Amino acid sequence: MLYRKLGKTGEKASILGYGCMRLPVLDNDPGKIDEEKASELLRYAIDHGINYIDAAYSYHGGMGEAFLGKALAEGYREKVLLATKLSCKRVRCREDMDRFLEEQLEKLRTDCIDFYLLHAVKKSYWEKMKKFGVIEFLEQARAEGKIKYTGFSFHDSPDVFKEVLDAYPWDLCQIQLNYLDENYQAGVEGLKYAAEKGLAVVIMEPLRGGNLASKVPEEAGKVWERADSRRTPAEWAFRYLWDYPEISVVLSGMNEMDHLKENMKIAEEGQPNSLTAEEKGLIAEVKQIYRARMKVNCTGCKYCVPCPSGVNIPRALSYLNDVTMLGDVKNARFQYGVLLSPEEKAGNCVECGECEEVCPQNIEIRKMLKEVTEIFEE
Ligand SMILES: NC(=O)c1ccc[n+]([C@@H]2O[C@H](COP(=O)([O-])OP(=O)(O)OC[C@H]3O[C@@H](n4cnc5c(N)ncnc54)[C@H](OP(=O)(O)O)[C@@H]3O)[C@@H](O)[C@H]2O)c1
Repeated sequence: MLYRKLGKTGEKASILGYGCMRLPVLDNDPGKIDEEKASELLRYAIDHGINYIDAAYSYHGGMGEAFLGKALAEGYREKVLLATKLSCKRVRCREDMDRFLEEQLEKLRTDCIDFYLLHAVKKSYWEKMKKFGVIEFLEQARAEGKIKYTGFSFHDSPDVFKEVLDAYPWDLCQIQLNYLDENYQAGVEGLKYAAEKGLAVVIMEPLRGGNLASKVPEEAGKVWERADSRRTPAEWAFRYLWDYPEISVVLSGMNEMDHLKENMKIAEEGQPNSLTAEEKGLIAEVKQIYRARMKVNCTGCKYCVPCPSGVNIPRALSYLNDVTMLGDVKNARFQYGVLLSPEEKAGNCVECGECEEVCPQNIEIRKMLKEVTEIFEE
């Protein structure tokens, strides 16, 4: 396993981190973790060098942290850097923050959380958390020794990312990045900005929830075959990320021992600046293949917002693209449901057409939003 520094903290983490959002479950029920299997995977990972574990209050219907508390008993807790998150969605007042943190410490059976992150920060959550005194809360929790480092995970535009990042001396941020999402949300721009400021950058969704590894268009497979080195699509996706020296940890959710072992093996080669120009060219070609399948040619310029009805048009359209590019309706539906507030959803469109007047790409936005509503809301 290779290790990299976690920004200015001076801590060292394995370049592959264990994401606990998708642990194996029983009866297809997210609340029923298959504890035996999940524990075996997690302990195997730690025994073989993974030392960064990512959890959240809300994973597995609130059961994830309690499972981790058990799985990390018998000396495993001391071997890892444990990251978990405060649910911005659930916080209704300042006292909630203290209450959630106490609950999390108890569930995780630990006195101190190494990395405590605000979960899935977007503009509205950030405004709310600031209003309720989140900075003071973090400072107090740190002074009391309940958390060691602070951070946030992020799902909004680069502008909001910079705003949040500049508002507090965070230690770490967690962003979505893979070769399809270079210019999506924080993107590569955000990665470089954060690293320059000394933050550790942790990556989520490296395989776009597995789609870049398992739903590979035939054309893309043919591009990979032209490479001098034989690599699986998963390896290409991971190597793309580890090539960035600014990235500290890449998280992956691994339910299968084969995937865990494969990813750990790939991680042995994950040196920064190790891809050749030819290899980067192949990745760019594959990216174009996925992009050509995009239903909507939206560049995320945001000329169309604010929408008078509050619809988050760029985000709503991006989920439509996920369906046509990757064919995974289930995952896109899940993300649409969780990451867009009720006000932001496409069903609120009243077809005023203001957006189409300003769209530089001449997208038939009203028609597309109807499709979004049909696919994701009905
Ligand atoms: N803070 C946030 O807002 C937020 C949002 C999303 C994610 N996260 C965190 O980031 C972590 C990583 O995101 P993710 O779970 O979406 O990661 P991911 O690696 O993009 O996707 C995980 C999926 O990829 C599959 N996979 C992993 N390795 C593979 C391989 N070698 N070959 C083929 N398929 C493979 C897994 O399948 P198997 O399960 O079958 O192994 C799993 O279904 C999460 O677990 C969570 O901790 C945080």
